Parts: sequence; structure tokens; C-alpha cells
Amino acid sequence: MRSSVSEPPKTANQSLVAWVEEMAALCRPEQVVWCDGSQEEYDRLCEQMVADGTLIRLNPKRRPNSFLARSHPSDVARVEDRTFICCEKADDAGPTNNWMAPEAMNALLEPKFAGSMRGRTMYVLPFSMGPVGSHISHIGVELSDSPYVVVNMRIMTRMGSRVLEALGDGEFVRCLHSVGAPLEPGQEDVAWPCQTDPRNKYIVHFPEERTIWSYGSGYGGNALLGKKCFALRIASVMARDEGWLAEHMLISGVKEPSGRRTYVAAAFPSACGKTNFAMLIPPKPFRDEGWEVTTVGDDIAWIKPGVDGRIYGINPEAGFFGVAPGTNESSNPNAMATIRENTIFTNVALTDDGDVWWEGMTDAPPKHAIDWHGNDWTPASPEKAAHPNSRFTAPLFQCPSVDPAYDDPAGVPISAFIFGGRRQTVQPLITQAVNWQFGVYNAATIGSETTAAALGAVGQVRRDPFAMLPFCGYHMGDYFGHWLHFCGSLENPPRMFTVNWFRKDAEGRYLWPGFSDNFRILEWIVRRVNGQAVAVSGTLGWKPRYDDIDWRGLDYSREQWDQAMHVERNDWLAEIASQDQLFFKLYDRLPREMTAIRDLLLAALCRMPAGRKA
Ligand code: OXD
Ligand code: MN
Repeated sequence: MRSSVSEPPKTANQSLVAWVEEMAALCRPEQVVWCDGSQEEYDRLCEQMVADGTLIRLNPKRRPNSFLARSHPSDVARVEDRTFICCEKADDAGPTNNWMAPEAMNALLEPKFAGSMRGRTMYVLPFSMGPVGSHISHIGVELSDSPYVVVNMRIMTRMGSRVLEALGDGEFVRCLHSVGAPLEPGQEDVAWPCQTDPRNKYIVHFPEERTIWSYGSGYGGNALLGKKCFALRIASVMARDEGWLAEHMLISGVKEPSGRRTYVAAAFPSACGKTNFAMLIPPKPFRDEGWEVTTVGDDIAWIKPGVDGRIYGINPEAGFFGVAPGTNESSNPNAMATIRENTIFTNVALTDDGDVWWEGMTDAPPKHAIDWHGNDWTPASPEKAAHPNSRFTAPLFQCPSVDPAYDDPAGVPISAFIFGGRRQTVQPLITQAVNWQFGVYNAATIGSETTAAALGAVGQVRRDPFAMLPFCGYHMGDYFGHWLHFCGSLENPPRMFTVNWFRKDAEGRYLWPGFSDNFRILEWIVRRVNGQAVAVSGTLGWKPRYDDIDWRGLDYSREQWDQAMHVERNDWLAEIASQDQLFFKLYDRLPREMTAIRDLLLAALCRMPAGRKA
């Protein structure tokens, strides 16, 4: 049976039309709908999902035009062990990715996709990652049988007819997505269709074909294919081939009282407060003077060299898919304002007055709520009301700190890269790499101590190079090489910094207040890249002295500073030995710079008496 196409496609792109027909013939949906990206279409789909039980409309007085979705309990997060890079040669994927040969994966997946959309609609979503028409942006088309994906993609990307017009007969990334739950005639649907057995979920990338096939999950990065799949895994390969950067980075701007804006891009592994840093509000004395931090993006940056020898970045996304728990009026007031309306919440709790709640949102929990499973919940319940990975999907332009250039096709000039992990020990609060190569080394070795929730022993360091470990679509050693090579095309490369907001003292107390006080470090970085701050040299690179930081409004002693900045020789010797585990893993393609810099560092540390300040 041929599927019905609701409206004739408004595109002259014959390869797109042919691909949609081919995929519809494979997946056999009841109908094919080309999405125009309009508000009317969004509203209609939301209404339809409310009627079907996928969405709950929140109280319009408390949370206008907003909805709650509850996923199936088996479908709550990205599935790294079900994520595959299927390039021709296993070596090109490298040891940090799951690999399967493209033909073998095709042979495995085609029977799964065959008829997978029976009884459902295949939506055709043309989307632009980045401002429509920008030379930094790229276009994808997602075919999905999930209306939840359609409405989330409309928030997270620029989506619809205007993208088809911009595409013309150009190239696009092919993104096929099915929740993998066909409906037999007369079969009743469930609120969150998906494959409930984790082994039946497949998030698959064919980098050489610029194609993504995602099967069995309807959640977040598994299903909103513009995000991690395209904008990081496929785009990192495109960036390597074409000479640009696709990074797991926020971009923010610092506006000085003079009006000058300096933009930085920053990489932090998941769960290190990236969204909070992207929406930072400076401490009061700075605010009163007119300092501001503005948000271009909170998760992904695409960066290309400009004709002037500088580099320009865009946020390929148009919305936030932020982690809800822990977000509150004091940790991130800008995020709280962003999600006041027009927001889709997934797996948070529902309050009795039709609003949302999650752990850490308010000091006092509600007396009663419905938890993310749909069950009654009270503060005495043993389970969490919201899933720890519950999310909000909200438009970027609703953020009070949105940067005026967030939609500028030219992008914003990037003056600094900041890298940070979550380290209770070892890593000082702030260092500046002496040059680009050292910066790449520092970024390649960032990591976080594992928490009880993650695999591995507590306190073990999980290396997450450039915060790209789960997101790099090719061999990590080649990726370091690409970064090293990239610098050669720049006249004035950005400066590179490493930060650690999470260092603790021997009693387990944080040595740095974090949150808005991170601005003090950011402000030094901005002065530094603009040639207005001094630094002294230390074993790990350049560093500010206590007096180089602006402490107005914060009681922070020289002793605290010394502790937060201390470089302990023996800890660093152990650190370097532990970094070698990553380097050995990547050794066949590890650029020589990495081991050369490791040896330089080692030599400097070995000449340093234990306990001496570095
Ligand atoms: C994310 C992540 O969801 O990095 O952004 O895990
Ligand atoms: Mn992320």
C-alpha cells in the first residue's frame, strides 16, 4: 500500500523528494506530512497529543502555553552504549566509539525500519542548524513518526518551509527516526511509544553518508536528531573535512560598561553547570556598573574561520533542552524566566495547581504532587518526584540574557576558549595555557570524578576530552590533530583557559563559591584576552595573582585563593600518569604534541620540590 502524502512537497530538491519516498516505502507510514514549522501546526500537534494522552496541558495561568510529557521509564536519557559510528573503517571511529560496518548495520536496521511506522504519520521536518542562510549553518531533514519530536524540533531548531526554500537543491543531512512501535489496525496507542528493551534502541551515524538512523527511542538526544547526532557527531566529521569546529560548547558574551563585547566559548562535561554558566548574572557591584553576560548558546557551538583571521561562532540550536533538577531562582534565574511559558517539560512532577516541580526548584517541596511516573507523591515518598534527567524545552529568544547577535548569520567573534571539568582535587581554579598547543593538551585531558550514579569507583576520573567523549564522530586522536591543525589557519587564535569550580579542601568543603562569582574569573579572562590584565607564569601556564581578581562584594581571603590555586607536585605526577591511560588508548593516532607537552610538564614537576608553590 502506498502512503498518502498530505500535501505535495514544496521543494524542487529531487534528491530530497526521492529520499522521502524511499524511506516512506521502507517504513510504510499511514501518511506523510511535510511540516511547515508554523505556530498553527505546532498548536494543532500539541492539541492532538493532549487528546492522545502524550501531553498534559499545564495551568495556563501559571505556565501559559506549556505542556508536560511523561516518557516510558525505559526511555529517559541518551543511550551511549546503543550509539554507533558506522564509518567504513573501524580505525576511523577510534576506540572511544562503538563501531559497526555500514553494510552490517544496514542489514541489521533495515528489517527494523521496515514497516516501523505502520499506523503512524511520517513527519518531514526540514531544519536549519544555525540562522537560516548563514554560511556557518547547515541543513538537515528529519523524518520522524513522533509528533513529540516535531514540536520539540520546532523549538530546538529553525524548522519548516523557510528552510526548504533556503535548501533549494543543496545538500542536507538525512535523519531518519522511528520510535519503533508500529500500530496494527485497531490497536490502541500508548502515551509514549518506544522500544522498551534497551537492546532494541539504535542511535546510528553514517558519517561518510552524512546520515543518521535512530530507532526505538523517543527521548531527547536520541530522537531530536539535530542536537547531539547531527550538530556534534556528524558535524564534527564535516568540520574535520572542511576545516572548522563543531564543539560541545556554550557561547556567551561579556558586555563591559563601555559597551564592548567579548565572546568566549566554553566546554564542560555534562552536569558541570554549563547552562548556568551560559546564563551567568554578574555579582551586584559589576551589575551596578553595567556589566552583563549574554547568552548565544548553552550546549553546542559551530565555529568557522572568518576572512579577517579571527573565528566566528554560532549556536546551531534555537532553544534549550535543559536539565530541570537543580534549576531554581538562585542557581539560574535566567533559565527560570525562560521557561515561564511556551515550554515543554518532560519527566518533571505535576503540582496540584497544574504547574511543574522538580527537586531543587524551591526550598520547600510541594505537600503533594504527581511524580514523573504519574503516581501520587509526597515529600515522604522514597522516590524522586522528577527524574534526575528531566528536561525543559524552551525557545532561546525567551531567555532574558539572550545575546542580541544570537541569530546573526555572521556569528560572533570568539576570543577565548574555556575548558573545565569537575575535579575535587588537583586542578586549580584558573590557568591560561602558554600557547594553543598547551591549550589543546589541557582540553584533551579534562575530566570529572565519577559520582556514585556513574559507572566506576567513586572518585575515579572519567576523562572527557573537550567534553566530546560521547559526541566525537571520529577517532579522538585525529580530533586532537584537527584542533592542532586548525590553529594554523588563524592569524590571531583565541587564548585558551582551564577552570575548575569544584575543588574541595581536606574537609570536603568547596574552595570556590561558584555560580555568579564565576564571573570574577570570566572578567579576568576578558581583560586578559583584551591585553588588560597581567598574569604570572606557573608550572601549568599563566595564572592571575590574588590581586589581579576583582573581589568587590565577596569576602574571599588570600589563603582561600592560595588553596584553590595550589598545584601539588605529587598530585600532578599522579594526574599525568592517569592521563596516560587515555593517551595509550589513542596512541596510534595521538599527535606528537600531546606526549611532548606531557614530558615538558613532567620535567617541570619533577624539578619542583614537593609542597613548593607552582
Ligand atoms: C546534554 C549532555 O544533554 O551533554 O546536553 O548530556
Ligand atoms: Mn550537552
